[in-house]
Amino acid sequence: MRIDIFNTYDELSLKAKELIVQEIRKDKNLLLCTATGGSPTKTYELLGETYQKEPELFSGLRIIKLDEWGGIALDQPGSCESYLQKHVLQPLQIPEERYTGFNSNPENPNAECKRIQERLRKEGPIDLCILGIGMNGHIAFNEPAEFLEPFCHQAELSEMSLQHKMASGMQVKPTYGLTLGMADILHSKMIIILIHGTHKKEIAKKFLSKKISSSVPASFLWLHPNVICLIDSNAYES
Ligand code: F6R
Repeated sequence: MRIDIFNTYDELSLKAKELIVQEIRKDKNLLLCTATGGSPTKTYELLGETYQKEPELFSGLRIIKLDEWGGIALDQPGSCESYLQKHVLQPLQIPEERYTGFNSNPENPNAECKRIQERLRKEGPIDLCILGIGMNGHIAFNEPAEFLEPFCHQAELSEMSLQHKMASGMQVKPTYGLTLGMADILHSKMIIILIHGTHKKEIAKKFLSKKISSSVPASFLWLHPNVICLIDSNAYES
């Protein structure tokens, strides 16, 4: 794993943006998997600025949503969908046919997971996966547990995940999560994980200790040959 340390969130975000643009230049039809939440927001904002200057660069880009809160309306503020619409899909003008995402309130969550898994089988593998790390070490909604799930699944959300900023303000609370699984993520050709802020220091230390455990799902990224961790000095303990 390559680890790059930055003084500020802005510098970290600029690097993430540059890496994403570099990959899109290599492959216009790149399949980009996008996390939501605070970690990648600035990166996406900078990508939007690149779109303004060079819209044709994004003319083949495909997006897959990493995960979604379950049991809420798709357009509810705080849904991953609302976030992606605002920060990625609209700024980069990604049409429906180049977007894959879980429905947040399916009649049958298992069938919805199968649908996304099938889409990923056809469209995938993911070329570049953008991740954040949860305060408990989760990636997507792969929560710490005795066993982790390889493929798309309905996840039981931890208390800590329910306290995430996106969910804590929701009127209707999510009752579960819908998420790509560990193998779906680890089969990505390239992964960038973004970590910033003092609040992430403790979990960053565990993650960077190279001890692979299902109690820190992000630690499985150590098994992947092409991961870049972009971390700011507030989260990094040398
Ligand atoms: C969001 C996701 C989550 C977040 C993680 C960190 O789509 O998959 O795993 O990446 O909870 O969230 P932030 O970046 O808000 O600290």
